Amino acid sequence: MERELALEIVRVTELAALASAPWMGRGDKNSADGAATSAMRAMFDSVSIRGTVVIGEGEMDEAPMLYIGEEVGSLNGPEVDVAVDPLEGTDIVAKGLNNALSVIAVAGKGQLLHAPDMYMEKLAYGPALVGKLSISDPMEITLQKAADALNKKVSDLTVMILDRTRHDAIIKVLRKVGVRIKFLSDGDVAGAMAPAFPEAGIDLYVGSGGAPEGVLAAAALKCLGGELQARLMPADAAEYERCIQMGIEEPYRVLTMDDMVGTEDVIFAATGVTPGEFLGGVRYFPDERAETHSIVMRAKTKTVRFVRTLHYLPNKTLLQQT
Ligand code: FBP
Repeated sequence: MERELALEIVRVTELAALASAPWMGRGDKNSADGAATSAMRAMFDSVSIRGTVVIGEGEMDEAPMLYIGEEVGSLNGPEVDVAVDPLEGTDIVAKGLNNALSVIAVAGKGQLLHAPDMYMEKLAYGPALVGKLSISDPMEITLQKAADALNKKVSDLTVMILDRTRHDAIIKVLRKVGVRIKFLSDGDVAGAMAPAFPEAGIDLYVGSGGAPEGVLAAAALKCLGGELQARLMPADAAEYERCIQMGIEEPYRVLTMDDMVGTEDVIFAATGVTPGEFLGGVRYFPDERAETHSIVMRAKTKTVRFVRTLHYLPNKTLLQQT
């Protein structure tokens, strides 16, 4: 993939973020998601790829746009897999909370795991812990190993986790050993990426979240030099069968970075919709301008670009901003 593609991709996440941000705090997650999805879909037409959505808004019969299997892009350019979440954290935007993103990952054809829509257990960390931890270890051992590798006391670690009752057992362990916990209301792509940003002050991301979000976070961490280990959590026989149908022969096996993103030739872009651990949210100014904060990066070069953009939006004509 050409390096210019990275800039084309970030323009798509910017537009999706700009489209959904007006719904911030309005208690209407479907409109926020719909606005982001329509804007992202429209903007993809200008991107020089022959893309196929492998992670998107759902199956063809459930989602009108950006459904799995949909072809996107100008259809000139490299044949690529596309993983999208036009609005990662629909409830976050509806409730006016932190860490909502618009996200895209693009990689060569067949290189992104076609993750079924179910929960996935995740363990994510930044470069300092790569190769030092195992998702198969008990949580106490993982925390001790992380503390040793980071030259900290266990009680000085900060761990991020989604605030869910299904995490009660993990949270009990975290409390017992005395780490600091930063709870997320939603948005575990941002959560899993956070440990790769020293300024976020988070050492580990643990717990379960969506499997599609796991692949997006793995793409980001590949570019950031961090790591995400994962394991699918089929809840019943139907979900187990769904894994098999999607080509995942051993659904309970640990998934490595390479299982989820099988190439260094991956581009990841995200734009903040609401403020988060490493990106600002969309801000509006009185002179018909709006500001976005994005990150765009390629695993091949490991270049990480923070892009602050001032958009001119006369009469809020978002979709004409091509
Ligand atoms: P949506 O944007 O689709 O609402 O997802 C938000 C999210 O928090 C994800 O980041 C996360 O992976 C998943 O939901 C967790 O699911 P649950 O809310 O069922 O715990």
